[in-house]
Amino acid sequence: MRVLGIETSCDETAAAVVEDGRRVLSSVVSSQIDLHARYGGVVPEIASRRHLELIDAIVAEALDDAGLDGASLDGIAVTCRPGLIGALVVGLVAAKAYAWSWGLPIIGVHHIHAHAFGGRLAGDGAGHGPEPPFVALVVSGGHSDLLLVRDWLEPRLIGETRDDAAGEAFDKVARLLGLGYPGGPAIQRAASEATAPIAMPIADLGDSLDFSFSGLKTAALRETERLGPTETRARAADLAAGVQTAVVTPLAEKSVEACRRHGVASLVVGGGVAANAELRRRLTEGCAAAGIDLVLTPLEYCTDNAAMVAAAGSERLARGRVDDLSLDVESMAPIPRL
Ligand code: KG4
Ligand code: ZN
Repeated sequence: MRVLGIETSCDETAAAVVEDGRRVLSSVVSSQIDLHARYGGVVPEIASRRHLELIDAIVAEALDDAGLDGASLDGIAVTCRPGLIGALVVGLVAAKAYAWSWGLPIIGVHHIHAHAFGGRLAGDGAGHGPEPPFVALVVSGGHSDLLLVRDWLEPRLIGETRDDAAGEAFDKVARLLGLGYPGGPAIQRAASEATAPIAMPIADLGDSLDFSFSGLKTAALRETERLGPTETRARAADLAAGVQTAVVTPLAEKSVEACRRHGVASLVVGGGVAANAELRRRLTEGCAAAGIDLVLTPLEYCTDNAAMVAAAGSERLARGRVDDLSLDVESMAPIPRL
């Protein structure tokens, strides 16, 4: 079974072909980071226009890299929720046009589900990789979710951020420190040069599996005011390291706790922030100590891509959960609580 995936929910235009839900035959990602960097964040209208310019060429490239044409596909999976409406529409309309002209089923995919499927691409392509039940930590620019996955297609929310997402916290603090956009990689780079990390507060939410990161930006702002501009510049690495620890610590600790609480022995981690080296290190340590099997999404499939969308679509297709041309986009699509 070969599925073409299309992803345009935010600022990456991406297409990929995945075989049997696990083997990536091609994956093309065009990032718009350069277009949005001067604004310090994604500008929705610019994102949609760029998707529109690129989508046909990106799909053609993904098919070409896989050595296939439309006739050799079994379905087209597309991210249709949640995301920027105008951006999602471009991917969906393209997917509908291809599905109609090639006579293929169309499969709508939830972006957060797709990030969990990033873990499936960690297998050896021969049918191995995570199988439910597992806990999934999906951490991106828009979400910080803990999911209990007993069935790949029916994840249930067991923890989420009450305010900013982890990636959003990195992006905001990086902007404050003048480290550039996107903030996550910039904070990681700066933090690696820290000599005396400045401790930042971690929200105390009792025994809840939720997260809260909005206080971090205020704490970082206070710290820059206390230090003054010259000292802030000199200690940017130490500030970045403190912020990174304050984001990574609750993510790692609560993921392990979620597995323990729900009696689950494996943890799958995906989303842009899952590319963070310190988070990967802390999770590796924590899971080893707790006897949890850790599945980290391969680095190239952490940030937005279409291979994870094709993988998620393959599972739906295999189980007959396909859509039709009435499929629509949704800007918000909360995952139900357990
Ligand atoms: O999953 P993604 O590409 O898009 C969304 O669905 O939001 O995630 C993007 C987020 C950004 O906030 C970016 O700063 C963060 O992932 N990110 C990282 C790293 N690479 C990307 N955060 C921490 N460390 C990284 N290495
Ligand atoms: Zn994403």
